[in-house]
Amino acid sequence: MSILVTGGAGFIGSNFVLDWLAQSDELVINLDKLTYAGNLQNLATLADDARHVFVQGDFGDAALVAKLLLQYQPRAVVNFAAESHVDRSIHGPGEFIQTNIVGTFNLLEAVRAYWGALAAEARAGFRLLHVSTDEVYGSLAHTEPAFTETHRYEPNSPYSASKAASDHLVRAYHHTYGLPVLTTNCSNNYGPFHFPEKLIPLMIVNAQAGKALPVYGDGQQIRDWLYVKDHCSAIRRVLEAGQVGEVYNVGGWNEKPNLDIVQIVCALLDELKPRADGQPYQTQITYVTDRPGHDRRYAIDARKIEQELGWKPAETFESGIRKTVQWYLDHPDWVANVQSGGYRDWVVKHYGN
Ligand code: NAD
Ligand code: DAU
Repeated sequence: MSILVTGGAGFIGSNFVLDWLAQSDELVINLDKLTYAGNLQNLATLADDARHVFVQGDFGDAALVAKLLLQYQPRAVVNFAAESHVDRSIHGPGEFIQTNIVGTFNLLEAVRAYWGALAAEARAGFRLLHVSTDEVYGSLAHTEPAFTETHRYEPNSPYSASKAASDHLVRAYHHTYGLPVLTTNCSNNYGPFHFPEKLIPLMIVNAQAGKALPVYGDGQQIRDWLYVKDHCSAIRRVLEAGQVGEVYNVGGWNEKPNLDIVQIVCALLDELKPRADGQPYQTQITYVTDRPGHDRRYAIDARKIEQELGWKPAETFESGIRKTVQWYLDHPDWVANVQSGGYRDWVVKHYGN
């Protein structure tokens, strides 16, 4: 038995692959293009592990995906591959359209052909799990209830619009062709291997480097934070027990304004690695121009996955953020390699060409 994971060298994908192989011996074929966000160093502990087959390639390359599906006959595909950073989508939306929409379409076509040719039993057991985001639902007012699975799609950035389009394609392939799909829409993740262009790792890394901590606008935008390993356990649970064609919102009931997040990170650093001059890290906070079209609030209503599938996050925000800050303090080489681009050399060093 095996599963095909796309985007498994990114932040969530690499955590998922590591957790999967920590709990099972089922082969993982990991197809990742290794864009700037893909980092095989995240998977260094699996370098000599025969249960992990890494393939550098595009999940939108239908011929390559067809070849891998035929060769390995996976019982499931878990689709993480995407362009994921909202700010990058504002500067250059084209790559988001190509990857998140066209790439997902090509993947669906390859998977549909494979699934259609499977024998009855394998066909019945097969699943495609599409990993998506709460951003497709748009922005909530402070008084509005959290997003449920039936909330109207109102994406506001090129990133969230491209993810929304991919969700619609996945849905359409179920309704039209019967493809056995599952979709998860998760809130903001944080934890190990988070690329330091995103809020939490950027603040941890900048704080230690003595740089400004750039807070967009008034810092009162609210996000709903979930420790990445809890997202991974939710995906495993949905893959195992989710109803085909259903959508599951995933979140940790952890709404916090950005400024609070930055202050919490600063306070943890004050405790774990105080500044040499004794000043608190929050003196480095700087308010900068807001993100265009910045969504004010996201919040996930996670009752469906909790009640129907019995999933619950293991971490509170307090335990998860402490682990995360400690992880970055314990892995200065990972941070240095990402910042220098050295992690790209690592691929050649460890895997040859
Ligand atoms: P990431 O940017 O860290 O990783 C994306 C990975 O996809 C990288 O390894 C990259 O090399 C790979 N990739 C990109 N284009 C590819 C292509 N054409 N073919 C194959 N691989 C390709 O992203 P992430 O934060 O790990 O997010 C993973 C998924 O989860 C995305 O679909 C994202 O929309 C979704 N998501 C993320 C969050 C979050 O907070 N980070 C929350 C909810 C959902
Ligand atoms: O909600 C899920 C989404 O969470 C995922 O779908 C995305 O892939 C992921 O990148 C994340 O999107 P956000 O835009 O919420 O994450 P980001 O870390 O970029 O920003 C979090 C908040 O912090 C957001 O309100 C913008 C703000 N911010 C971000 C950065 C990078 C700042 O104030 N300063 C910053 O420097």
